[in-house]
Amino acid sequence: AIQRTFSIIKPDATKRNLTGKIVAKFEEAGLRVIASKRIHLTKAQAGVFYAVHKERPFYDELCEFMSSEPIVVQVLEGEDAIAKNREVMGATNPAEAADGTIRKEFALSIGENSVHGSDAPETAAEEIAYFFAGLELVG
Ligand code: CMP
Repeated sequence: AIQRTFSIIKPDATKRNLTGKIVAKFEEAGLRVIASKRIHLTKAQAGVFYAVHKERPFYDELCEFMSSEPIVVQVLEGEDAIAKNREVMGATNPAEAADGTIRKEFALSIGENSVHGSDAPETAAEEIAYFFAGLELVG
C-alpha cells in the first residue's frame, strides 16, 4: 500500500553538504518528497523527539548531536514507504550496513549515522505530526 514515512537528514550529513545525494537515493528508490524543511532543533526539542530513548546511555549525546547543526526533516511517500526507506538507509550501525545504502556510504558512526527514518506506521504518524502541519504535506 501507499504509505508515508518521516525522515531526518542529520547534522553530520547537512554539515558535509550531503542533502542532495541523500535525497537522490530516496527518489531513486521510488520515494517522493511531499514535505521538506531545514530546521535547527534546540536540545529540548530533540529530547522530546527521542523521548522513547530517554533511559538509554546515549540519550544525552544523541540530543546534543541532533541539536548541533541544522537538519532536514521530510515526509516521504510511496509504496511500502516505511520499509523501503529503511532499506535505503541501511543498518543503524554503518559497520553493519549493506553496500549502496546511505549509512554505508555516508555515516560516520552509530550515533552520527546521517539519517533517521520511522520504524512503523504509528511512529511515522506521530513523527510527521511533531514536525509538520497538515497543510505542509503536498502529495
Ligand atoms: P535513529 O534512527 O535516529 O534513532 C535513535 C538513534 O540513536 C539512532 O538512530 C542512532 O543514531 C542513535 N544511537 C543508537 N545507538 C547508539 C549508540 N550506541 N551510541 C550513540 N547513538 C546511538
